[in-house]
Amino acid sequence: DLLDQIKWLEEQFYIPTEKLKQITNHFIHELEKGLSVKGGSIPMNPTWVMNYPTGHETGTFLALDMGGTNLRVCEIRLPEAKGEFDIIQSKYKMPEELRTGTSEELWEYIADCLQQFLDYHHEGEKLHHELPLGFTFSYPATQDYINHGVLQRWTKGFDIDGVEGKDVVPLFEAALHKRGVPIKLTALINDTTGTLVASGYTDDQMKIGCIFGTGCNAAYFENCGSVPKLAHMNLDPEMPIAINCEWGAFDNEHVVLPLTQFDHTVDQESPRPGQQAFEKMIAGLYLGEIFRLVLVHLHETGHVFEGQDISKLKKAYTLDSSFLSLIEEDPFENLSETADLFLNRLSIRPTQPELELVRRLSELIGTRAARLSACGVAAICKKKNIKSCHVGADGSVFNKYPHFKARGATALREILDWPADLKEDPIDIRAAEDGSGVGAALIAALTLERVSAGN
Ligand code: BG6
Ligand code: GLC
Repeated sequence: DLLDQIKWLEEQFYIPTEKLKQITNHFIHELEKGLSVKGGSIPMNPTWVMNYPTGHETGTFLALDMGGTNLRVCEIRLPEAKGEFDIIQSKYKMPEELRTGTSEELWEYIADCLQQFLDYHHEGEKLHHELPLGFTFSYPATQDYINHGVLQRWTKGFDIDGVEGKDVVPLFEAALHKRGVPIKLTALINDTTGTLVASGYTDDQMKIGCIFGTGCNAAYFENCGSVPKLAHMNLDPEMPIAINCEWGAFDNEHVVLPLTQFDHTVDQESPRPGQQAFEKMIAGLYLGEIFRLVLVHLHETGHVFEGQDISKLKKAYTLDSSFLSLIEEDPFENLSETADLFLNRLSIRPTQPELELVRRLSELIGTRAARLSACGVAAICKKKNIKSCHVGADGSVFNKYPHFKARGATALREILDWPADLKEDPIDIRAAEDGSGVGAALIAALTLERVSAGN
């Protein structure tokens, strides 16, 4: 009976090569649609980051990285010569309640962290001018220029009233001014753009920046001439501009993605139903939830944990993707670590066949996420006619989820029909060396240079 259930799960979650190719082709079309005047589901936001840093940028810059789980502040000193830079960093936890609190609470908290950072690292110093800051704000924003960003919508489970549709820069600056914190926001960037620029600083083969973490997204450079929605601005058609795809929104229409009933439930119960269809199948925020919903369903249909109290498992979002990572990492044939995990975290004692089902389910969910991610990368490469490049990836899923990288690479080989005997993958998704904070600081530096050069 459990074997039948495993077979059913495989049918639900395994995405064969042909389907990956179909998804990729639709993806290319949607990327193009996002760049058109009419637009589409994928926002394809112009970022006003107009090139990689030259390496001659110098000075001291702050970077603030507001991710889903952490808030990082770094101070970066760019040296005279390209290459090594000094960084000091502090990490602050983003309190869970802030995600659904008020706009004021959010900006106050951020301003407090920055103030603490300056108090600690510049204690007793008199700062003679405002320090320039690059703000990594990892949500979709419409930007008319680089220190401007109107939040299109919250993603990653955030739901704070009064910010959507507003420029976040004045909200942020008001909280700083209230405290007299001597900081000037110079550039607002997405984490994908930061990753792209930071990786490109040290690797000129880097063409795409990706995040596979709490959320999932990518950025890459287009020439202005290939972005029809910018045509009215008469920009130099050959000038590159980084585009933050916001590809989490791919296929919000549900035309091509093989959604299961569990994906539909995740969507309907999220604060923004109908949004981020692609992200909800891939990102770390959702992997544990999909897993949990499957197990609750199998229990309710009489297939697993018969006669056991599953009340802990019934709590939404009680499992995060690290729970699946631990299951996939269980080195023992009898899956004894998985058994302990279920007992300690959920007060459930699975039978041996149930443990095997749980392991297979984790593999299926993790593999599906990695294979879908490859469709996005393949789509950008095909659209741009890139035959070989490096893709810089960051985020907890990419860095910590077992086999994510290898599974993604396998899928890329299938989608792009690379011959089996290739020694090296021509398109290589690899860990980005520096966090998006470095990118934010570099972009802040680049921006100041551009401003002082008068263009
Ligand atoms: C980081 C980048 O390390 O990865 C951040 O510097 C990014 O900018 C983050 O937001 C994404 O990962 P996660 O898992 O924290 O969402
Ligand atoms: C979500 C955000 C996007 C971000 C990604 C990764 O998709 O909308 O801006 O890049 O998560 O953090």
